[in-house]
Amino acid sequence: MKWTIDSWQNYPIKQVPIYNDENELKNVEDELSLRPPLVFAEEVRRLRRRLASVAEGKAFLLQGGDCAESFLEHNANNIRDSFKVILQMAAVLTYGSSLPVIKIGRFAGQYSKPRSSPTEVIDGIELPSYKGDMINDMAFTKKGRNPDPNRLLMAYDKSASTLNLLRAFASGGMADLNKIQEWNLEFVKGTDEVNRYIEIAEKISESLTFMKACGITPSNTLQLRETEFYTSHEGLLLNYEEALTRKDTITEEKGWFATSAHMLWIGDRTRDLDGAHVEYMKGIANPIGLKCGPSTDPDELLKLVETLNPTNSFGRLTLIARMGASQVREKLSPLVKAIKKSGLAVGWCCDPMHGNTIKASNGYKTRKVDDIMEEVKGFFEVHFNNSTVPGGVHFEMTGQNVTECVGGIYNVKEDNLSDRYHTHCDPRLNANQSLELAFLLAELLVSKRKSN
Ligand code: PEP
Ligand code: CO
Repeated sequence: MKWTIDSWQNYPIKQVPIYNDENELKNVEDELSLRPPLVFAEEVRRLRRRLASVAEGKAFLLQGGDCAESFLEHNANNIRDSFKVILQMAAVLTYGSSLPVIKIGRFAGQYSKPRSSPTEVIDGIELPSYKGDMINDMAFTKKGRNPDPNRLLMAYDKSASTLNLLRAFASGGMADLNKIQEWNLEFVKGTDEVNRYIEIAEKISESLTFMKACGITPSNTLQLRETEFYTSHEGLLLNYEEALTRKDTITEEKGWFATSAHMLWIGDRTRDLDGAHVEYMKGIANPIGLKCGPSTDPDELLKLVETLNPTNSFGRLTLIARMGASQVREKLSPLVKAIKKSGLAVGWCCDPMHGNTIKASNGYKTRKVDDIMEEVKGFFEVHFNNSTVPGGVHFEMTGQNVTECVGGIYNVKEDNLSDRYHTHCDPRLNANQSLELAFLLAELLVSKRKSN
């Protein structure tokens, strides 16, 4: 059957909300289809080129942001702080990998969530699960949990204003490498780990001082002052995506672009070969991600890759492995081997978050920083053993000082989880934990370079 922007509607679909009022939904979709695109085709093509470099080992990918963005917490300070932490992490990873770091936020559109159960029961009352602010509300009331089509327009508006600020930050001085060096490590000085991180931070500062002495400064060098920053989200709500799927009217090049974000990914729960999500993603020209959890079968993966990347070009498809620390070596190896043997062109990225979610003894959903790092190490090991490219990492993180994941140098304990547990869905790394992981990763990347 021929692909069209709405051909996904002929396929079985999972994880979508059921709205009470079809007419209201249709009006919203019509309105969305008249709104301007959020991203521009040339930016999307550029990201594809950048991700091709990632797949070929010439760049490193850092993708990160909230599990679920929130309308209530949508404000300039939150956007600024997350942007800043990603930039700091990128500086540390650039040092570690000696490669350009491609930065993609789970920002400006990450408002819908797949859930393991369609309903939630509290005190004997059963209501639909919270599915992200683009669908319903966190509040556990009948009204709150009822899917509301107007939220699609609100998500568009919030995404537009986030993107506007991100673009301003990326080119308006916030990305100045000299300004992002407040590593916040001073008051935990003393342990071996922190001393090692301080050493790396000092090396980065020394490099900048050296460049300055050579006359290379942010005021005369664009690369030290500005950055490329891309957006992404899970492409879950295909009616929203369809309404924002457009032709490139400037180059009039053939093809359709999802213009809600530069990159979309398919979640682990919706990666059915014969399902609607794969059908939609198949026809858009954007770079796409495919989450691969422990149930991914190597033969099925090969079919998915052939379907999603029929021209077999690098940069089109990034496989985002999320196996869990205890399973990554066993589950990822057969997938990496199968892809390598087939000659299919993909990039590999490690999401060490979604396979490591546990319930703390006090009931909070959490993740251990140690497990997260262990999965990253396993991911690198598998690629090292197969001489393939460990292209990047995908984190759920925030620039705020939340207490959602346990461990790290500031040692968040289970008992601290209730202090500042603000996530709308999965537990995120806080600013310090994110930076700590970047330092650990940098060490891993340096040792990998030295052993090559
Ligand atoms: C996510 O990235 O927030 C998510 C739900 O991931 P996955 O599809 O891998 O479970
Ligand atoms: Co998540």
